[in-house]
Amino acid sequence: MNRRIVLLPGDGIGKEVMSSAKEVLSAIAEEFNHSFNFETHEIGGAAIDTYGTPLPETTVTACKQADAVLLGAVGGPKWDQNPSHLRPERGLLGIRKALDLYANLRPIKGFKNLLHASPLKEDVISGSDLLIVRELTGGLYFGTPSERRDNGETVVDTLAYTRHEIERIVDKAFQAAQGRRGRLASVDKANVLESSKLWREVVEEKKAQYPDVTVEHVLVDAAAMKLITNPTHFDVIVTENMFGDILSDEASVLTGSLGMLPSASLNESGVGLYEPVHGSAPDIAGKGIANPLAMILSAALMLRYSFNLSNEAKLIETAVQSVLDAGFHTADLQITNGRQVGTAEMTRLVVDFIRTQSASKCIASCYY
Ligand SMILES: NC(=O)c1ccc[n+]([C@@H]2O[C@H](COP(=O)([O-])OP(=O)(O)OC[C@H]3O[C@@H](n4cnc5c(N)ncnc54)[C@H](O)[C@@H]3O)[C@@H](O)[C@H]2O)c1
Repeated sequence: MNRRIVLLPGDGIGKEVMSSAKEVLSAIAEEFNHSFNFETHEIGGAAIDTYGTPLPETTVTACKQADAVLLGAVGGPKWDQNPSHLRPERGLLGIRKALDLYANLRPIKGFKNLLHASPLKEDVISGSDLLIVRELTGGLYFGTPSERRDNGETVVDTLAYTRHEIERIVDKAFQAAQGRRGRLASVDKANVLESSKLWREVVEEKKAQYPDVTVEHVLVDAAAMKLITNPTHFDVIVTENMFGDILSDEASVLTGSLGMLPSASLNESGVGLYEPVHGSAPDIAGKGIANPLAMILSAALMLRYSFNLSNEAKLIETAVQSVLDAGFHTADLQITNGRQVGTAEMTRLVVDFIRTQSASKCIASCYY
């Protein structure tokens, strides 16, 4: 397979973890006979320094022509006092909008060796492995411009969705559930909101197209509780923009390890932007100690969701799991009796695992 991948390392540890992802993808390409062509472009603070804008036109054009985009992280104290149009985050919002990324996917998995870092009891979080599919371009954050009326005493925000917007995100979630354990929880507030009633209607209609997926409807308040009391209950959760914003942040702290969380944002043509959930971590940038695993796991999501290479994606995920199981960890993770390693060594361990499994021809039979 031939694919063109645009790399946007951004700022701080974004550059360090991006080079790890590139190394892992290069190993996958070699072992599976793919050709990945990497093209690096600037975004965020680095782009402000070089081009005077957080999102240069060349970056946008390259991303639009790519098969997928990998992004590190943007931001840092150097640009904190800039006027709003010259803030690094503008680059991030701009590229998401330019690519029309309407579906945000966040997998959250409790890795065995890291469960002790969770705010939940180990026996509650153990075995949890869920995916939150959040609508990203509609709803309350994108309604008719908010307004203040009656001398500022009344405020209005609009939560608007079209049937098409709901259908495409619900389809994405059903398809994701088909590739996982086949369970979909649709989260809404259909006892109160008209938009949620249409949401629920669409999910009910779509059900027939995906007979292998079991569906339940959960009210958002109940979902928020269940995520804490019984996270293993969930496989795939699909929900609208604001509910997804809140629930995905709630779920992301369950595993207790910011450096382990990948994400994917997809558009209708399947082109996606893949990035770790963490930021540019200026406090540790340049020290060679950043955890590259969220970025590496984001690359695995790219293989699965944009290129349909699920065996290759699974091998990366298995490699990450095995390296942690063997006790290796970066400074941000604590593993009892483990061995602390830096960014480069963690990357090498993942690559070594991939190469060893390929060499032993274990790929087809051992892990899938
Ligand atoms: N998507 C993005 O690009 C994104 C997201 C969040 C924050 N930011 C930006 O990043 C900068 C720093 O923000 P912040 O400190 O609030 O959040 P952060 O995620 O960068 O860091 C929070 C804490 O987690 C640690 N950390 C984060 N990722 C890590 C990793 N991979 N390995 C080891 N430790 C890791 C950091 O050292 C820090 O102590 C700000 O400029 C912010 O605007 C960018």
